[in-house]
Amino acid sequence: MTAVGIDAMEIWTGKLKLDLAETFAPAQGDDPGKYTKGLGLHASSFPDVYEDIVTMAANAAHRLMERKGLVPDDVGRIDVATESSFDNSKPVSTYVAGCLEQVYDGDFHHANKGERKFACISGTQSLDDAYNWIRAGRNRGRSAIVIATDTALYARDDPGEATQGAGAVAMLVSEDPDLVELSAEQGFGSADETDFLKPNQQFPSVDGKRSVNVYLARMREALDDFASVAGDIHPDDYPLIPFHTPFPGMVRKAAALGYRHIIRGTDVEDAVAAEIGHQPMREDFETDDAFRDAIREYTDSLTETERYKDWYADTIDPTLEISREVGNWYTGSVHIARAAGLKHARENGRDLEGKQLLVASYGSGAQAEVHAETVVPGWEEEIAQLNIDEQNRERYDLSFEEYEQIHDVHNHDMEADVEEFTAPESEFVFDGWGRMGERKYRYVE
Ligand code: CAA
Repeated sequence: MTAVGIDAMEIWTGKLKLDLAETFAPAQGDDPGKYTKGLGLHASSFPDVYEDIVTMAANAAHRLMERKGLVPDDVGRIDVATESSFDNSKPVSTYVAGCLEQVYDGDFHHANKGERKFACISGTQSLDDAYNWIRAGRNRGRSAIVIATDTALYARDDPGEATQGAGAVAMLVSEDPDLVELSAEQGFGSADETDFLKPNQQFPSVDGKRSVNVYLARMREALDDFASVAGDIHPDDYPLIPFHTPFPGMVRKAAALGYRHIIRGTDVEDAVAAEIGHQPMREDFETDDAFRDAIREYTDSLTETERYKDWYADTIDPTLEISREVGNWYTGSVHIARAAGLKHARENGRDLEGKQLLVASYGSGAQAEVHAETVVPGWEEEIAQLNIDEQNRERYDLSFEEYEQIHDVHNHDMEADVEEFTAPESEFVFDGWGRMGERKYRYVE
């Protein structure tokens, strides 16, 4: 069977930067350690005045098409995943296609376009859709462009404000991929939850503390479900485990849970059950206080072992390197975690060819999905093309007052009259509103 997976990817960050330790913490009267150590974040990316989810998506897709030498006829599908959409009818992918058609000969008239919604997990769901479309033989030799794009902004003074971010990830899904081969093995944990919502509003309503617990609960279910398909798995089987990363501190918790949970069948639960004198049924785990507390104690001591620390340093920490500098990108976040892990591996001469990654996605509302994917020949050349470090270095460093202004602009404040902080070059920009309230875009040479 022909391999199907991610052939190439491009990342586009918002062009402004808010430094959390230098700029945000002093203005909030907080100790910078809360952000840099507690949440694990150094900075957030923000879009400039002329940037939004469409420009970031189109710019990432344009780089992808240029680099891979593609023309519109090579693309049979454009799927955009976002939780920052501005229209309940017209999908962002049509705007993206419209942008790209300004700079390519040809058009996307015969491509299937859509927009996916399930909070942050919809980027991974769109990858699934593209994979299924090719596997079903409906692609006529063409590839899919999957884009995850978001402006992850919170209301001022919301606890989530420190985790903001903005950017897009464009992925080319094809037969015979050059980066990773996707597999049919998946596990899900899904339940009707009210932890993070955007009921027709720009900024989310979040129960932050609860959202952390919901993430962990659904992830545990997804791991169980994955193990029921993939069989006997062990944390050491995977050189990298990219998690959805709203902030690295969340992944610290998820990794501890995942580690314990994956090896549970072999020793942890039996050991803990023997210690407390009984083995509860799985459905009673949450309500059995003695068992739950004993497991927590075991986990806490486990994460203090050298073995765990080495595993975390090799398998998890590298996946957080981009996220630390850009914040939460919602739908794109797990995909920049994969990119960061592969980039770190290439830069450090790790041979990953033929190895499996365990990718753990999550979306509030809530659903977690875990799947394995295989690193394929060509991955080093592909990942070497990313220029995210350069983009991050070139971002304009906002003062707190400038941050307040740009936050208003992206609250869709039509009255906000703020000068752009950077000059656009070789990119798509927002160009005002049309007569039906649609957005206009143009390419700046
Ligand atoms: N030095 C070092 N560490 C410090 C510190 C200091 N000076 N001050 C605080 N800390 C630590 C705290 O101990 C805490 O660590 P632990 O969680 O390991 O105990 C960490 O820094 C954060 O501190 P608080 O818990 O006090 O932070 P908070 O309550 O103000 O905000 C939050 C945390 C509620 C998660 C908030 O960031 C939030 O609402 N975020 C948005 C929601 C979110 O991202 N949820 C994640 C799961 S949902 C999801 O993943 C979907 C999505 O993308 C949104």
